Amino acid sequence: MHRPKTTARLLMHLRNADGIISGEQLSRNLGVSRTAVWKQVSLLRSEGYRIDAVPSQGYYLSGEPDQLDNGFIRAELESDCIIGCKIVCTGETGSTNTDAFLLAEQGACEGTVLIADRQTRGKGRLGRYWVSPGGINLYCSVILRPCIPPFEAPQLTFISAVAVARAVKMTTGIQPEIKWPNDLLLNGRKFAGLLNEMSAETDRVSFVILGIGVNINMQAEQFPADLRTPATSLLLETGRPIMRQKFIVCLLKQLDAEYARFLQYGFAPVREEWEGYCNASGREVLVDLGATRLQGKFAGLDYDGALLLRMPDNRNERILSGDVTIL
Ligand code: BTN
Repeated sequence: MHRPKTTARLLMHLRNADGIISGEQLSRNLGVSRTAVWKQVSLLRSEGYRIDAVPSQGYYLSGEPDQLDNGFIRAELESDCIIGCKIVCTGETGSTNTDAFLLAEQGACEGTVLIADRQTRGKGRLGRYWVSPGGINLYCSVILRPCIPPFEAPQLTFISAVAVARAVKMTTGIQPEIKWPNDLLLNGRKFAGLLNEMSAETDRVSFVILGIGVNINMQAEQFPADLRTPATSLLLETGRPIMRQKFIVCLLKQLDAEYARFLQYGFAPVREEWEGYCNASGREVLVDLGATRLQGKFAGLDYDGALLLRMPDNRNERILSGDVTIL
């Protein structure tokens, strides 16, 4: 969001104040009259900020709107981060993955993050639709340009899954589970999904789009009826609303750290951490492969992210895609 400089500085002083800050102090800090301070306060209030005027004491910032602001998110990230080096927030779009793909084709740099408040054609896996109402959730896509062969690109999904799991743990205190390959669950219900898309030549990836959708403050009635039982949100599971900006900042930091570790040490550490969140490790599962189903023990991830299914004859079957149900 672009606001006049004085308004942005006023917001900064209100945020940094340890409680109430006097109008006089604000007018000195900003170099404007107290009437001008009052006008700027009214402007912020019209944007949804709750600013209490405490008689004879000053102003107190008691609430912020949960809107998405490029400048705020960027300022919270490290100056030398890869993921988040450029942030583009939009109000409404069809799909952030589609936008990111087009931007990447036009040469957008690695680490560019697209965030939308609302999507009108949110894409899910297997051609499904991702429900994307405005003002309450996170819909974002990240452009990556790793120097890896195309067959290693699916490993990046596991990076997103671990980053989302960590961000949830850090912002809510609750540890989510991951359902192979890329669903995030709380109490057995899905609250986040990942959709990676890739452009590649024969032997090298040109870019990968990491698409991340997280149901943050969605209420039960905001889900379409058929999703009410299998789907959930952080709000529904914790009983507390979560500031989207706080969650996004935390997620981008985790994603950046996880991606840096992947570039330096490869897939093994990601795989190890992912297995710690996996809901099926060591358990008897049924894998639906579309045409057929296989039953066996979930024996972890292979070197490339394929699921290893221990068959009754002790042989490991490699599964590249399918739907896993714990028996
Ligand atoms: C799934 O089916 O589980 C994957 C859902 C991925 C949704 C996210 S929301 C942001 C990005 N843009 C999209 O259109 N889809 C992904």
